[in-house]
Amino acid sequence: MGEVDAAFIQSTEHRPKLAVVEADGIPLIDLSVLNSPDSPEPDAVAVRPLIAEIGEACKNWGFFQVINHGVPFKCRKNLEIAARNFFALSKEEKKKVSRDDENPMGYYDSEHTKNVRDWKEVLDLVVEDPTLLPVSHEPDDKELKEYINQWPEYPPELREECEHYVEEVQKLAYKLLELISLSLGLPANRLNGFFKDQASFIRLNYYPPCPIPHLALGVGRHKDGSALTILAQDDIGGLEVKRKTDGEWIQVKPTHDAYIINVGDIIQVWSNDRYESVEHRALVNFEKDRISIPLFFNPAHYTIVEPLEELTDDQNLAKYKPYNWGKFFATQKRSNFQKLDVENIQI
Ligand code: SIN
Ligand code: FE2
Repeated sequence: MGEVDAAFIQSTEHRPKLAVVEADGIPLIDLSVLNSPDSPEPDAVAVRPLIAEIGEACKNWGFFQVINHGVPFKCRKNLEIAARNFFALSKEEKKKVSRDDENPMGYYDSEHTKNVRDWKEVLDLVVEDPTLLPVSHEPDDKELKEYINQWPEYPPELREECEHYVEEVQKLAYKLLELISLSLGLPANRLNGFFKDQASFIRLNYYPPCPIPHLALGVGRHKDGSALTILAQDDIGGLEVKRKTDGEWIQVKPTHDAYIINVGDIIQVWSNDRYESVEHRALVNFEKDRISIPLFFNPAHYTIVEPLEELTDDQNLAKYKPYNWGKFFATQKRSNFQKLDVENIQI
């Protein structure tokens, strides 16, 4: 094990099984019907099979991949190259844009997930720069949280590539939210309505080669607190998803130019558990480094997240207490989103 810090070592039950490669089963969904020249309305008959497919994927896996999604490949490739150039800089140079207690956006290399250190380096950037939104609309709650991007000086093109990428991927996010709304029996624009202001952010993940890939993880097991995550992983692979049927860890096969989509905690709450946010983790590689780029699609900080009233009734009581997204985000405490004991509540 040489000089690897013990902080990276996973306990026996959480170590990855590197030899297992099986057909992943995670749905691969073709969005080309949306890109036809007459671009159909989201609820057109031709789109119905796609809506059903997305609904099944959200229900059974919480994860799916999409192809023919309309995001130009070049724009993703250019961002990957710029990200690689950033992570290739010296630690000293990268640390010029380190995040701190005041501003959580920036560079860091010592994240812990479930108390074990992740084998990765990260640069986080908000989509609306700066994101300066009241955490709530209550008159006596003036708390403001400021998230400002710290653009590195090198590589100079990173900012433009990132902004261009975000613009394109946001279009995909809005399309997916329409389809997810329809799959829940809601009007197409129901979920998009929460994103007029938003606290979405993009994460550039760099996983260096690791001498102990059987003992460490790039990111330990976790669920995403976002509404929806749209992830680009390169062709090395490493993302594993916990299969709902049996709790096995399943690798998401890298698929050229596909995006991996997953339901986050917010959709779980809005949908009152029809769709669940599923645990996942990232493996590391002995020889190769890996880049992955998630875009976490989040509503504005003042949003109160709670089960949608259309999806709750006497037979299907709300399973969550309302929570303030900004406060959740600032503290990242999952206890802020509390499952109600459905047996014992009266509505
Ligand atoms: C994450 O879920 O935080 C990252 C996933 C990945 O790198 O594939
Ligand atoms: Fe994640």
